[in-house]
Amino acid sequence: MGGKKLHNHNNNNNGAVDTNSNNSNRNGTTTTTTTVKPPPVTLQQSPIINLDRGDPSVFEPYWRKNGGKCTITISGHDSLSYFSDPNSVCWYMEPELQEAIRRVHRVVGNAETEGCHVVAGTGSTVLFQAALYALSTSSSSVAAEPMKVVCAAPYYSQYKEQVELLQSRLYEWGGDAETFDGSAAPFIEVVTSPNNPDGSLREAAVANKTGNGKLIHDLAYYWPNYTPITRPADYDIMLFTLTKCTGHAGSRIGWALVKDVEVAKKMTTFMQITTIGVSKDSQLRAAKILDVVAEDCEQHAAGAFGYAGNDADKTFFGESRKLMAERWEKLREAVKDKKDVFTLPKYPKRYCNFSGRYFQPAPDVILYAAAFGWLECKEGCDASALMKAHNVLTRGGETFGVSSRYTRISMIGREEEFERFIERISGIQCVDEEDEEEEEEEEGFVVMNGNNGGDVIRLGNENSNSHGKWLEQVEVQ
Ligand SMILES: Cc1ncc(COP(=O)(O)O)c(C=O)c1O
Repeated sequence: MGGKKLHNHNNNNNGAVDTNSNNSNRNGTTTTTTTVKPPPVTLQQSPIINLDRGDPSVFEPYWRKNGGKCTITISGHDSLSYFSDPNSVCWYMEPELQEAIRRVHRVVGNAETEGCHVVAGTGSTVLFQAALYALSTSSSSVAAEPMKVVCAAPYYSQYKEQVELLQSRLYEWGGDAETFDGSAAPFIEVVTSPNNPDGSLREAAVANKTGNGKLIHDLAYYWPNYTPITRPADYDIMLFTLTKCTGHAGSRIGWALVKDVEVAKKMTTFMQITTIGVSKDSQLRAAKILDVVAEDCEQHAAGAFGYAGNDADKTFFGESRKLMAERWEKLREAVKDKKDVFTLPKYPKRYCNFSGRYFQPAPDVILYAAAFGWLECKEGCDASALMKAHNVLTRGGETFGVSSRYTRISMIGREEEFERFIERISGIQCVDEEDEEEEEEEEGFVVMNGNNGGDVIRLGNENSNSHGKWLEQVEVQ
């Protein structure tokens, strides 16, 4: 029987149909392959690219290649008890995890663990809350008024939400540390370094000036895959997370390095009351992953700190930094011709003790690899609305306590999504309203289609730029 086979991928559209009937199969019979060309995808129909989330899928290819080394077996009789180490301050913490954490900090040289207590958390998110509880209930700081929690803007958007969620009487959100008067009462300052969203390396903005501030250092991104390791961090409370260190967000493991034993005990109490500890299964897996990463560093790197050397590129951190840097290069390339629309931050040149080389500012971007791109548009432009009009979801400046001219894009998502974003960015234009007076008289938030596939956002009155309106006004071709 003549094998006439129709590969009709999608008949249900208005697209053109190409039929090729000259394909022969192994039996010499002819097959007909019908290819349906989809109709042009309009801007609104085009798939949404979600660069809002900081989900670290970027490292998945690395772990697909190397993940076998991290396999552990947990049998039915494991992890039955709540307790792990009754003699430790953090009694629910597996000793293997504690050891692996100290080891990885030692080999990377990014934090001083000597003299610190390690408190484990279900991600570092819960440890932030544990630290707020501990700092706002220490005897010296129990106050009639809730303690203010501040962070220099732009700040990680989750801090405000977490501080406000339970409407606690112990603490409340105090906003931007840069404009906060810390002279009156004790307060808590959060220092995120490198910072989310803009990747800058930071020191306390206000706490060190007044002496009234207690500090929480969130060092989620202080790893050599994102930033130069300039010295071992050495602060009272330092938060880290597996989420950003190795990309294992789903394991939900974070840890705090805490100098003061009373603070460490209170943080442990918080964990005890809220969740009675942290999954032991996850802890054991995290311990294995961190051990594999640390072993890799010990084998391949030797130099400053006893570890940095030429082979640091072969470690997990080296390979993932390279991956990140490649993305940055693509982003910079795509944004280069768009200076009238976006600009990216410039990072200073800094020496990284782990990799034994400099992290360079653009145009030598090979080594700079921040987890987020912080795009700045010109005055009057709502940056996330501009992106949203192009079906790219980003996180706008207001959520980080700054102007809507800024928006954050995740650099750590899936390859395919990132590539599509790079393609899409070339079509974005931003046009001043004054320059376009001949256009229709509208409220100044018009999005219109360009002549050759370039979609144009016209700037206007910021008050009228609600996202809904922006989108309603989108015209596509
Ligand atoms: C600065 C910062 N701190 C903390 C976290 C929370 O991480 P985790 O997954 O450990 O809760 C994130 C996650 O994106 C972050 O960006």
